[in-house]
Amino acid sequence: MTMRVEPAGIDIEVSPGETLLQAAWRAGYDWPTLCYARGTCTACRCEVLDGLHLLSERTEAEVALLGDLDRRVRRANPRRIRLACQATASGHITVRKPGVKKQSTVEDQEAANVERQ
Ligand code: FES
Repeated sequence: MTMRVEPAGIDIEVSPGETLLQAAWRAGYDWPTLCYARGTCTACRCEVLDGLHLLSERTEAEVALLGDLDRRVRRANPRRIRLACQATASGHITVRKPGVKKQSTVEDQEAANVERQ
């Protein structure tokens, strides 16, 4: 199944049982995080634009962290906010997560250094 990530328009394959964040990392993408998938920071949170019913139930970490966020952030549907390090998908979904981008490789960094010289 595929996860479309907007606004970048990136398509990432998600395997069964894999979290959205694990899928992004496996595919070579950076995804905002502070706790590196420990379920404690909320930096990985994304808004589900399509396929909300195809995501796993909120985990205890999400209930604890997002429940508080639900009360503080006024949104049309706060249930659309999920932690990418906790949620798994069972079908094609679309999420909104600014800041997702391809990880730079050693070759990319070397090329950037050459351009700077
Ligand atoms: S990466 Fe920190 S809560 Fe998901």
